Amino acid sequence: MRLLFLGDVVGRSGRAALLETLPKLRERYAADFVVVNGENSAGGFGISEVILTELLDAGADVVTTGNHIWDQREALVFIERYDRLLRPVNFPAGTPGKGAGLFKAANGADVLVVNALGRVFMSDLDDPFRAVEDELAACGLKLGADAILIDFHAEATSEKQAMAHFVDGRATAVIGTHTHVPTADEQVLNGGTAYISDAGMCGDFDSVLGMDKEEPISRFLTKIASRRFAPSKGAATVCGVGIEVDDATGLARAIAPIRLGGRLSQAEPAFWLEEA
Ligand code: FE2
Repeated sequence: MRLLFLGDVVGRSGRAALLETLPKLRERYAADFVVVNGENSAGGFGISEVILTELLDAGADVVTTGNHIWDQREALVFIERYDRLLRPVNFPAGTPGKGAGLFKAANGADVLVVNALGRVFMSDLDDPFRAVEDELAACGLKLGADAILIDFHAEATSEKQAMAHFVDGRATAVIGTHTHVPTADEQVLNGGTAYISDAGMCGDFDSVLGMDKEEPISRFLTKIASRRFAPSKGAATVCGVGIEVDDATGLARAIAPIRLGGRLSQAEPAFWLEEA
């Protein structure tokens, strides 16, 4: 099975690139299942219902989020109507929506997707390790799910690496999101779990984390907020990873980065292109 994950979609530029590229990538890679992190897709902050449906229509099977999930207040309401939109699983009990779900892939496999939020340099939520453990206990690899993908939306690479090793051999992949900068540490861990500290964003890299540079620079210099952060409008790089799954075990055979368009060096999973 082939899993495709694309990172945090930032603003109009990220959306435009994703909507144009995703249908082509689905076909080019013969991807069975696609997850997109959409938490910065609406003007850089949160996700709207219209944008969610655009991402789903473009070929995302599931849209994950993170700390900005409620920035567009309408998400508190419409999340209940969309099975395929996840918010972090370790929000307090009673939070609208859900943080994990079992979804059908194109090849008929059942894929468990879990969206968790880190706590280091972030809000003090419920323990993400315990929350992930609960989901794995309820729906284990090759017990309830044919593949398990965890989007761990976190600031600290230490917390992300710890999560990956914590579930190594029990999940197909742990994909870090939130920092918007793709890391070069993609690997299959000893137990068979694919990992990357951050998949990177779908956004304009002539920016500060996808936002126009002037205001972030000004805030660092003056400590005064003078205007809102606004998404940078230049051509976006679509960032993510491809994961080749061993169907017999549900563990990962390989993981490789995807960087297409925009300013970053370009990359695609060679193991999928060679077979094509
Ligand atoms: Fe985030």
